[in-house]
Amino acid sequence: MKEAGIELMKNTKSVRDIDIQGKRVLIRVDFNVPMDEDFDISDDTRIREALPTINYCIDNHAKNIVLVSHLGRPKERDWQFSLKHVLKRVERLLGRDIAFGQNIEDVQKLQEQSSDGAVILLENIRFYEGEEKNSKELSSKLASLCDVYVNDAFGTSHRAHASTCGIAEFAKERVAGLLLKKEIDSFAKAMTNPLKPVLLIVGGSKVSSKLALLYNILNVVDKIIIGGAMSNTFLKACGFDMQKSLVEDNLVAEARKILEHAREKNVKIYLPVDVVSTDNIKEHHNIKITPAQDVPEGFMAVDMGPATSKLFSEVVRDSQTIIWNGPLGVYEIQAFSRGTFNLAHALSDTYAFSLIGGGDTADAIDKAGERDNMSFISTGGGASLELLEGKVLPAFEVLERK
Ligand code: 3PG
Repeated sequence: MKEAGIELMKNTKSVRDIDIQGKRVLIRVDFNVPMDEDFDISDDTRIREALPTINYCIDNHAKNIVLVSHLGRPKERDWQFSLKHVLKRVERLLGRDIAFGQNIEDVQKLQEQSSDGAVILLENIRFYEGEEKNSKELSSKLASLCDVYVNDAFGTSHRAHASTCGIAEFAKERVAGLLLKKEIDSFAKAMTNPLKPVLLIVGGSKVSSKLALLYNILNVVDKIIIGGAMSNTFLKACGFDMQKSLVEDNLVAEARKILEHAREKNVKIYLPVDVVSTDNIKEHHNIKITPAQDVPEGFMAVDMGPATSKLFSEVVRDSQTIIWNGPLGVYEIQAFSRGTFNLAHALSDTYAFSLIGGGDTADAIDKAGERDNMSFISTGGGASLELLEGKVLPAFEVLERK
């Protein structure tokens, strides 16, 4: 990443740098948490991570605190996407009652009626058509609810929406929350002047979604482990017949180019040397472990093999800074989770600074039981990917600098 970009974001003013006593504070949080069909929250990390900023505002005597978030991608006002589903959990974790406003006018009334220090949650901001359009009208309406705008929604910081960007133009003060700061400081630690050697572990299913990341990261890291289905495309680029494995045929030439670029830049690339494969992912009665160049006819690679686990663990052990984005196999299925989980264990045994991109990678680390052993797990999937691609995230751009 260009140092200027990450330094710019790092220099964002935070809620700690201003006086909030007696002021109305609006915090953009990311309560977009996963739920099952009964609306039971399966992972409340994002809510927990938003608590320090909310508590900071309460402790520092903000007049009132309005929480704004989205949930899912609703097309219209739809009960399924109501933030009422997260209200109870936020109340429980915060340890206090929270008023709920169906719309901005409701929130305004609640602000006038409630006593000092009240916390109010606005219904899903994506029920407003203007949110994703970054409409000026909605932005100024939201800004009218506050004296201070705080963005603490790292998971949504790559979206230029009314509640993440537009509002800043109309707010009197606009600063970052404590989570936003923690996230950017962690990425800065891993990407600008990191302790060397720096290792990127990259997985997931598609090379296409990681192309920008790979090109940018070649300027930052010393070594790259490529795993998951995307490694099939690279193995094919090495001339191996990957049989029925997921391969992006249109990107085989691009994969070759990346390998060449890496060589020019002296970045070492590690690919699986053996793979676990099956002829049917769902009904996996036939599972084989073979060298990567010997995937049996009609089989597809779904995990790395034991020799690769050992090799990759050695690479991990020899690194001081490790960035991990994307699982290394079909980890959701127990039989194909070993590669990803073994590497998670290897990471937990090092003293390296380990930064985990959000989304699936965080989920895999969690399932491996290693959440507490990582240095930092990002709450953003798309946002962390864009940071690794070297982009300046729009939500940071509109906040005040120190
Ligand atoms: C996420 O879960 O990645 C964020 O909450 C952003 O959600 P979005 O991809 O629907 O904008």
